[in-house]
Amino acid sequence: MLKVGIMGASGYAGEELLRILIKHPGVKITALAAKIDTTPIYKLYPWLKGMLDLECGDMKAEELAEKCDCVFLGLPHKVSMGFAPVFLKKGKKVIDLSADFRLRDVGVYEKWYVKHECPEYIKKAVYGLPELYRDEVKKADLIANPGCYPTSIILGCAPLLKERFVDTEYIVCDSKSGVSGAGRVPTQALMFTELQNSFRAYKANEHRHMPEIDQELSCVSGKKIEVNFTPHLVPMERGILSTIYLKLKKEISEKKALELYNDFYKNEYFVRVMGEGVYPDTKNVVRQNFCDIGVRVFPERSMAIVTTAIDNLVKGASGQAVQNMNIMYGLKENMGL
Ligand SMILES: NC(=O)c1ccc[n+]([C@@H]2O[C@H](COP(=O)([O-])OP(=O)(O)OC[C@H]3O[C@@H](n4cnc5c(N)ncnc54)[C@H](OP(=O)(O)O)[C@@H]3O)[C@@H](O)[C@H]2O)c1
Repeated sequence: MLKVGIMGASGYAGEELLRILIKHPGVKITALAAKIDTTPIYKLYPWLKGMLDLECGDMKAEELAEKCDCVFLGLPHKVSMGFAPVFLKKGKKVIDLSADFRLRDVGVYEKWYVKHECPEYIKKAVYGLPELYRDEVKKADLIANPGCYPTSIILGCAPLLKERFVDTEYIVCDSKSGVSGAGRVPTQALMFTELQNSFRAYKANEHRHMPEIDQELSCVSGKKIEVNFTPHLVPMERGILSTIYLKLKKEISEKKALELYNDFYKNEYFVRVMGEGVYPDTKNVVRQNFCDIGVRVFPERSMAIVTTAIDNLVKGASGQAVQNMNIMYGLKENMGL
């Protein structure tokens, strides 16, 4: 039985990891940590009462490492990079849910985030999007688990981009996220009274997920890509719906485009391509590790409009992290998911 630990167990991604891992037949949760004063985990999450007899608190990384084989870091960026090397040096595998190891160019990371404390580890990290990097994930010791918006956008664009149907100068991504995407730390903007019955955009072309989307779409297409990206906050607990506008430079019918997507993802359990004219809906992926994709093509306008739906905390975070763990340890990829 694989022994796993979670740092950041008191956060949203940490709670989702607990929800998945507690029922996972191949693992035993052996250690939990956060910044809070040490407390039984069932006091934080009453739904865990009688299911997990562990405490969660300010445990030293070295102590946590002694208790597990694989560590999930559900920590903010900057905090993760302080802990990952401790575990890696002790021969443990690390799945980091933050952005600290996602950007391969440290200069780009430092432009969008903070000074990197251990850039030498960026090279060792594998971008954990199994649908594109499964072979690398199998051999990885450090997984940079993708961001939620990037997961929804990269999976939505990859087939048309890879087959060079897209004018790479014109990609517009419009994403809407549930509020859990912002984490558990309270702010005024995230209060119910501020959010309910309303809906707004934020950080147009300034969101930190942009360089990650650009990096991965450039890899898929073999050309430098800079997308236009506007995220929105919608008054729902979880879920992301991304609408991606792709200008086509080669003709393709909707039927052929759907065939292309079905073929590209034919072996991917967690990607579901919708039927002709069907749009994905976040309610169908909530608490599941699926990415649902709908493809519309308008040949007379040379446009494809792709919509994707994921749960930001599952395929966008903790579910994908467990999918990566399964692959790293040779378990069935959908085990526990
Ligand atoms: N929310 C999402 O939908 C989502 C999706 C994809 C990726 N992510 C990424 O996943 C990571 C966690 O996100 P989240 O939404 O779960 O955030 P969150 O709800 O704010 O949780 C953050 C966790 O990190 C812990 N923490 C913070 N500083 C710490 C420190 N110095 N030492 C130990 N623990 C510390 C917090 O502990 P305390 O409670 O004790 O402060 C808490 O458990 C972030 O990097 C985020 O970008 C989140």
